[in-house]
Amino acid sequence: MKPSSRAVHAGRRLTARSPLAPDLSPAAVHVYTDLDDYDAVARGERPGYYYGRNSNSNREMLEKAVAELEGAEAGLAAASGMAALHAVMLALAPRPTTIVATRELYGGTMALLRQDFEPAGYEIHFVDLADLDAVRHALDGAGLILAETITNPLCAVPDIEAIAAMARERGVPFLVDNTFASPILCRPLDLGATSVMHSGTKYIGGHSDLVAGVVVGDAKVVGAARARSVRTGTTLSPFDAWLALRGLRTLDVRMRRHSENSLALARAMRTMPGVARVHHPLLEGSPSFSVATRLMPQGAGGMMAFDLEGGRPAVQSMMSRFRIATFAASLGGVETTISYPEITSHRSLTPQERAELGVTAGTVRVSVGIEDADDIIDDFAQALAAS
Ligand SMILES: Cc1ncc(COP(=O)(O)O)c(C=O)c1O
Repeated sequence: MKPSSRAVHAGRRLTARSPLAPDLSPAAVHVYTDLDDYDAVARGERPGYYYGRNSNSNREMLEKAVAELEGAEAGLAAASGMAALHAVMLALAPRPTTIVATRELYGGTMALLRQDFEPAGYEIHFVDLADLDAVRHALDGAGLILAETITNPLCAVPDIEAIAAMARERGVPFLVDNTFASPILCRPLDLGATSVMHSGTKYIGGHSDLVAGVVVGDAKVVGAARARSVRTGTTLSPFDAWLALRGLRTLDVRMRRHSENSLALARAMRTMPGVARVHHPLLEGSPSFSVATRLMPQGAGGMMAFDLEGGRPAVQSMMSRFRIATFAASLGGVETTISYPEITSHRSLTPQERAELGVTAGTVRVSVGIEDADDIIDDFAQALAAS
């Protein structure tokens, strides 16, 4: 099956009299009449559910669906992207070691590394993943490498394939946060990664109405992540799992439209007044253009960014004039939204750290929605024309 068909059907097997859409099962616990039966289900030797923190049918459908789309053996759904990331990082690197991470990490992940992993004895080595020599150097003696398929907020695409080959040669597990690309546009396991995580809150859910995370990989790693997630109680609620699976059914059509719209907006923004730079991996002249074209030939999703010459006042003025776009500190929904990294995703960084990453007082990140491209372009054009 092609990914578009898989997105529609993955995670479920319909038989006679199955509900076409899955039932929601909010039950905290299931009833048993036979102790041996309970014992077998609790040991995982027989299919079934017993206690909601350990297992649930809606969660299981979502886990299977994302695993299928990513081409993985197993999946785990957690209460948020951060819960998923935490569980899989500890599954891949259970004891203090050196973690090599992209210096352009999502701010929440950066905070997790600095405030939870470092105090526990892990050493974090931030590198520019575009510099493959630096990556090669950093990998020697490392215990884990962590990358994002598309970086936040400037939308660079690291060469996941080349990094995977170097990590594999050295026996270093490679974890990829594939939130921005989704399994429709990039499948990091096919490129050699060890495990993949998603903030399901974003494109997988797609409608800005749930918080969820998913991890996929081989059964051993996902099993260890699952055991920790169960122990620490970070498993995903049935309703959020139900919503995420419902969102996933339209992932392919949404990602195509997000990709077309973001590239159209990025191209149009180059000539809009007050715009100093536009960041989109598939924009002609982007530093990531050749890697992104190779790794994401179908499109790079809905994320892009631009820098306004007038800094924060110019951003505020544009925001006040929007008719369609809104300011919202998340991404991946059907609606076009902007965020302002200086006070959202990158607020925990010092001004100098932000400057080193190229994030300025004029940097705006856009999550381009699935509205009509002309309407989106017109909205930015009119909002900027007045400034
Ligand atoms: C790239 C990326 N990874 C992980 C996360 C964390 O996901 P969640 O908010 O679902 O915990 C986010 C959230 O913005 C993100 O953008």
